[in-house]
Amino acid sequence: MKIGNLDVSSIGVGAWQAGAAAWRVDLAELRKAYEYVLDNGVNFIDTAEIYGMGKSEEFVGELVRSRPHVVVATKVAGFNWAKAVKSAERSRSRLGRIDLLQLHWPPPAYVPLCKAIRELEKAAKAGLTREIGVSNFDASLMEKALTCTKSYPIVSDQVVYNPLQRAAEPLIELGRRRGFVVIAWSPLAKGAAVKEQVGDDPARRLDPAVKRAKTPQGRAVVKAVREIAERRGVSPAAVVLAWHKAKGVIPIPGVKTFAQAREVVEALGLELSEDEMRRIDEVSQPFLEGDIWPGVMRAIPGFLQKLAFTIARV
Ligand SMILES: NC(=O)c1ccc[n+]([C@@H]2O[C@H](COP(=O)([O-])OP(=O)(O)OC[C@H]3O[C@@H](n4cnc5c(N)ncnc54)[C@H](OP(=O)(O)O)[C@@H]3O)[C@@H](O)[C@H]2O)c1
Repeated sequence: MKIGNLDVSSIGVGAWQAGAAAWRVDLAELRKAYEYVLDNGVNFIDTAEIYGMGKSEEFVGELVRSRPHVVVATKVAGFNWAKAVKSAERSRSRLGRIDLLQLHWPPPAYVPLCKAIRELEKAAKAGLTREIGVSNFDASLMEKALTCTKSYPIVSDQVVYNPLQRAAEPLIELGRRRGFVVIAWSPLAKGAAVKEQVGDDPARRLDPAVKRAKTPQGRAVVKAVREIAERRGVSPAAVVLAWHKAKGVIPIPGVKTFAQAREVVEALGLELSEDEMRRIDEVSQPFLEGDIWPGVMRAIPGFLQKLAFTIARV
């Protein structure tokens, strides 16, 4: 797959879990998991300055310094839109390099969108990143953002997308027409798309997909995924990640264990049949509705967003 000029595997890996505060993780096990995926066919890892306020980037930096083949993506927090260059400098010192710099969420509504996008361009011009992208932009905001760039195209939009949250489909279609890639966060719905019970970490407590999974329609999705997995003799996670591949998006599952890492690698070689795709699409039809990002966030001034994220310690 291509993200702009970057050559990436069809599946990546997300490193929010390495920030550790909102997830309960064993960092030694996590290191083994990332090492396994990055040494067995996955060459794309995603992190952000806010994950553990730099901790995730430091963790990823240690892994990728000895793995020059890995494409490294990170994100400038939405409240730092005006300081993208400074943020990217700090991120690069933790990571060693940045290949894709994304704006983590849209700037507050009082900020002219193009002003925020130009700050990303400045970071690229300063040589801090090879490509620029955004995150949590819906199709209409993305259409506007695409008109803003002067010297660097926006090559990607990272949004939530899984069989319990399919609201990104118009955006995926727009990406096909306008030449940007959709990167899917929470591809496993934080585990809720693949198993009946998930932990109650702070990261999952308010997650809409985790709630949806408990409804009769949500349970039907999990059942369909698990039945396909059983018939094919693969893990449910591999089935869901293969569904993303067939949709033309790049999923970035957040693995926590070595066993989960093996299931990501298993998914690299799995293709679903048309019937299997149809079955998952039909059963997950009720989840085409909804928002990809709570628009209310844009009404909150940047300094308050920063305060909230600092207190929440994501
Ligand atoms: N741009 C954004 O705003 C944004 C927002 C959220 C996330 N992200 C990015 O997307 C990445 C992934 O999203 P996410 O962590 O929210 O959700 P996810 O990848 O859907 O779920 C990750 C969780 O699911 C469970 N899991 C992982 N592999 C599994 C497997 N093979 N079988 C069963 N369960 C499995 C693990 O928890 P247990 O083992 O505890 O069950 C893991 O912590 C993050 O790491 C981050 O890089 C971006």
